[in-house]
Amino acid sequence: MAIRRAMSGRIMDRTAVVGARYMSSWWRSVQPAPKDPILGVTEAFLADQSADKVNVGVGAYRDDNGKPVVLECVREAERRIAGNLNMEYLPMGGSVKMVEETLKLAYGENSELIKEKRIAAVQALSGTGACRLFADFQKRFCPDSQIYIPVPTWANHHNIWRDAQVPQKTYHYYHPESKGLDFAAMIDDIKAKGHFAFFDMAYQGFASGDPEKDAKAIRIFLEDGHHIGIAQSYAKNMGLYGQRVGCLSVLCEDEKQAVAVKSQLQQLARPMYSNPPVHGALIVSTILSDPDLKKQWLKEVKVMADRIIGMRTALRGNLEKLGSPLSWQHITNQIGMFCYSGLTPEQVDRLTNEFHIYMTRNGRISMAGVTTGNVEYLANAIHEVTK
Ligand SMILES: Cc1ncc(COP(=O)(O)O)c(C=O)c1O
Repeated sequence: MAIRRAMSGRIMDRTAVVGARYMSSWWRSVQPAPKDPILGVTEAFLADQSADKVNVGVGAYRDDNGKPVVLECVREAERRIAGNLNMEYLPMGGSVKMVEETLKLAYGENSELIKEKRIAAVQALSGTGACRLFADFQKRFCPDSQIYIPVPTWANHHNIWRDAQVPQKTYHYYHPESKGLDFAAMIDDIKAKGHFAFFDMAYQGFASGDPEKDAKAIRIFLEDGHHIGIAQSYAKNMGLYGQRVGCLSVLCEDEKQAVAVKSQLQQLARPMYSNPPVHGALIVSTILSDPDLKKQWLKEVKVMADRIIGMRTALRGNLEKLGSPLSWQHITNQIGMFCYSGLTPEQVDRLTNEFHIYMTRNGRISMAGVTTGNVEYLANAIHEVTK
């Protein structure tokens, strides 16, 4: 391959393997990219030598000893797969079996929409890849549309739709005083305007401990007759973070439209990564298509969610025990892996600098990083910086 560029008024051709004489001039204008706000927190945490350090930045589940977890159902699926797997490419749309099982989790085990084949769905590179594929699809087939993103959101949503060149707007979601949902303002922003609703469901099961219950919002939208899209991920609820296994689905008017949409999603994937990875998809389809393994998975999701719910109670309880005059009810009122603590960027900086506690500057605490061993320390530090 050759790269070509204009230089001093004339066009120069160079092969990709250029001579050392020219090397320095090619990328001279490239400046270091700004640090990712979430991954940057982990980098800073790793560099900290303190024995007290606590990482509540990244949204990755840890056990009560602060260690990463591989689920037993995943271990068992791997044992069953071992030696049985060839390394052939998956089709462009990914594992059909994995996608089938994944749709059931979101749309319902006995969904009529699935039976009617109205859902265009492809395997995606985890939740991020599913969002990006959808953003590219949106740009290609609805080029004048915009994306409305809640405030706050996962910071990468902004990058994803920016790189897909979809204009962004925001809608109200969080109420800073109540530290809960600002329902009135949200409804005001998104009043009946014929929106297409897109769900980024990266934590199904982590809210209640039951993936079926956590799909409630989606089911309500479906009952109300909306056409929706969903990004699903197995990073958190199956602990398959690095396997990059997920699914993008788009609900269509009929089977014919679904076939067309799926073919276009595949067309978008082809020049990007051609086809998705096989191993994680096989783990997921092995677990979800075996009733015993699925039962085991559901049990393990509940254990993870319950530990987080328990840590919410413990963090709030410790803050109240310390005599904090502030209300910490929102810690137990909020659900899921994260807690929007209400801490200011300056208070977060103090937590980091004085107590070696790492989180994003918007005060978002990943409850998955809180343990029996560090919850008192964390509560004490939060109490100190909010006095
Ligand atoms: C809200 C949200 N969506 C999507 C993702 C994507 O995760 P992954 O690409 O690992 O599935 C994350 C990960 O932190 C997230 O917090």
